Amino acid sequence: MVILYQSNTGFTREYARMLAKAERLKCFELEDGPQPEAGAEVFYLGPLMAGHIGGLDQAMKHFSVKGICGVGMSPPGEGVMRTLRRANYTADLPLFYLQGGWDPKKVGWLKRRMVGMATRSIRRALQERGSRRTAEEEQGLNFLLRGGSYVAYENLAPIQSWLRECSR
Ligand SMILES: Cc1cc2nc3c(=O)[nH]c(=O)nc-3n(C[C@H](O)[C@H](O)[C@H](O)COP(=O)(O)O)c2cc1C
Repeated sequence: MVILYQSNTGFTREYARMLAKAERLKCFELEDGPQPEAGAEVFYLGPLMAGHIGGLDQAMKHFSVKGICGVGMSPPGEGVMRTLRRANYTADLPLFYLQGGWDPKKVGWLKRRMVGMATRSIRRALQERGSRRTAEEEQGLNFLLRGGSYVAYENLAPIQSWLRECSR
């Protein structure tokens, strides 16, 4: 198995490299630089855009995808997993989700606006709470407005267990 990923603003890359290093697997970036051999077994990680895992279709076409991971800015949970299954062709493969981050400075104005619109109701509700915001809500609002990273090595644990099961 090798690790294959696509990344626009770097969060998925960080996870992919961390995972590859920890599990001593080779790491490739989809359509950039050296590629895995055609048909190679890969674990694929891609960034979420409106629920869609970027690059997944291409990865499925050229390689033997054994597991899939979406990386987004939403907190993990059942809701995200449902969206991932619904919005992507995952062929019942093992599916994981990692919370990456949000970097408004690294995306173009159109994408920034799209995210701005998608998160408007949350931002409005938080802004209206004003000084009654809890520390957690303050952090959430700050994340949506200025960006931030939730990338953490600990988040990789379920994927690492699964990879180890595979190589037994
Ligand atoms: C246009 C656009 C749409 C997005 N849609 C989602 C989404 O549906 N769900 C989510 O959790 N994050 C969404 N995000 C946030 C990215 O998935 C998140 O920033 C991710 O960490 C990016 O990974 P990357 O740095 O590897 O590109 C979106 C970002 C952009 C720019």
